[in-house]
Amino acid sequence: MVKNSEIDLGNRNTLMTGKNIAIVGATGAVGKALLRVIERRQFPLKQLRLLASSRSVGTSLPFYGEMIPIEVLSKESFKGIDIAFFSAGGSISEKFVPDAVSSGAIVVDNSSVFRMDPRVPLVIPEINGDDIQLHNGIIANPNCSTAIALMALYPLHQEFGLLRVIASTYQAVSGIGARGIEELETQVQALAEQKSCKPEVFLHQIAFNVLPHIDSFFENGYTREEMKFQNESQRIMHLPSFKASVTCVRVPVYRAHSLAIHAEFKKTLSLAKAQEVLMAAPGIDLIDDPSKGIYPMPIKVEELDQCHVGRLRLDHTSSHALSFWVCGDQLLKGAALNAVQIAELL
Ligand code: A2P
Repeated sequence: MVKNSEIDLGNRNTLMTGKNIAIVGATGAVGKALLRVIERRQFPLKQLRLLASSRSVGTSLPFYGEMIPIEVLSKESFKGIDIAFFSAGGSISEKFVPDAVSSGAIVVDNSSVFRMDPRVPLVIPEINGDDIQLHNGIIANPNCSTAIALMALYPLHQEFGLLRVIASTYQAVSGIGARGIEELETQVQALAEQKSCKPEVFLHQIAFNVLPHIDSFFENGYTREEMKFQNESQRIMHLPSFKASVTCVRVPVYRAHSLAIHAEFKKTLSLAKAQEVLMAAPGIDLIDDPSKGIYPMPIKVEELDQCHVGRLRLDHTSSHALSFWVCGDQLLKGAALNAVQIAELL
């Protein structure tokens, strides 16, 4: 084991160009995914500092074959850091992002705290990568379902002019973090042994159930998670007129989110053109031969960078609307991959 987490990676990367990186929330579901993405994409690193709570002191995480110890997050954690990835929840971002920025680090924040702040670019590199240049020390990573949906919606928007979306999400338990996975595992095990199971992380039993409730409710009856879709999409696509009515649903899937999307456009659609647009779009694969049982499924996109879109069909009630189904690994495109792509642009 190395003595501290400031592992010198200069021999593996270009020392002169490598960055000093910190990951806040390194032990969490997104934090661990970040480590794998940084490794896999050979992000040019000089030093890596892994930060979490005092609960994780004494533990370490594998990286490039070595075990890197976890350090306790503090205001002093960011000295010498060039880029800090934050993925430890909104309250930690609120408290420590200003310290990271005043230490000179550029923050890529996975929480929703800064996403609607006009001074903070909210970025999906394939869509509005140029917005990164407008940063003042913080760049926000979008909501996971929104990011996955926009990978399909944005190229269609460029061709047909997007007006409105009606969508339902099918969101994996890991969206709430590692404890979501533990809760589903525990409940499945308990029920298989015909024992009772008590919900702790989710409000109700999640095993063999679906919960039409993610995040807190607004007065308009939508949840915070549901309204993020419209609000964040408007900023990312630079499309303030865009409207979305979304129902967010938690499903007993470990990893990868799915969405059933109905999208309305300005122009008349042709299925062939929509297919062509999606086949050419970056970051998304058209997986669509339904009569042979071929369509996107969450288990097929686990640990994949690409999102999958399928069940593409013209809305039989409108010449201006499309229905489709999209799946993506929310720990990757919805979080860690998008964050590392932002850092690569930096
Ligand atoms: P820890 O494992 O030490 O609790 P997830 O989203 O998967 O639940 O992970 C949350 C991440 O945020 C974990 O890495 C967790 O660290 C970290 N975290 C939670 N609370 C704090 C805190 N007070 N200070 C630093 N990191 C925290």
